Amino acid sequence: MKNIVVLVSGGGTNLQALIDSQARGEINGGKISCVISSKEGAYALERAEKANIPTVVIPRKKYSDNKTYSEAILAELDRQKADLVVLAGFMIILDECVTKAYPYRIINVHPALIPSFCGEGFYGLKVHEKALEYGVKVSGATIHFVNEKADAGAIILQGTVNVENDDTPEVLQRRIMENVEWKLLPKAVSLFCEDRIFIKDGKAYVSGK
Ligand code: GAR
Repeated sequence: MKNIVVLVSGGGTNLQALIDSQARGEINGGKISCVISSKEGAYALERAEKANIPTVVIPRKKYSDNKTYSEAILAELDRQKADLVVLAGFMIILDECVTKAYPYRIINVHPALIPSFCGEGFYGLKVHEKALEYGVKVSGATIHFVNEKADAGAIILQGTVNVENDDTPEVLQRRIMENVEWKLLPKAVSLFCEDRIFIKDGKAYVSGK
């Protein structure tokens, strides 16, 4: 059984999707062993507690810079014996001390079709604001491995939704979450835990049964 450690910063609807998927027996070969939050009082913590998952809070604001914060996260991941780290609405770009220690073992969900609307400064609602500003007709979400460059790791799964004329950032965000993120994130986590994701020439592929 692989230990899945989920990192969160806010509402935690993606964490909830993982918890629900686990409860339905759809995460094969792994279990959510700990939830780490970068913010005290994040609603995601309540979701974890309701599901009897241990929680740890490592507040970003208590650290002077990203590197010392990342070192604290790394120490906790090691303590938790994490086999897989899932960034589920985690709003901090981790220093390479973490990404280098867990190569192809950190999965992120990004609310756009990478390589569009991604990288530093593109997170949460801002991503959808930018997509609407640009006028794209299709958007979606990407599940990918995390490496040293923001949102640039190997893509595991992507899914799309149509953008409608009267969409607001909030409406588009909700459509992408419901139709893509909450489905594909648990799916990718299960594929990882079943050892069904393989890497070739720096790209990720899913193997058949
Ligand atoms: C989600 O849409 C997630 O894809 C996005 O923030 C939201 C968090 O929601 N993540 C990022 O933008 C990371 N770069 P949640 O806390 O309800 O899961």
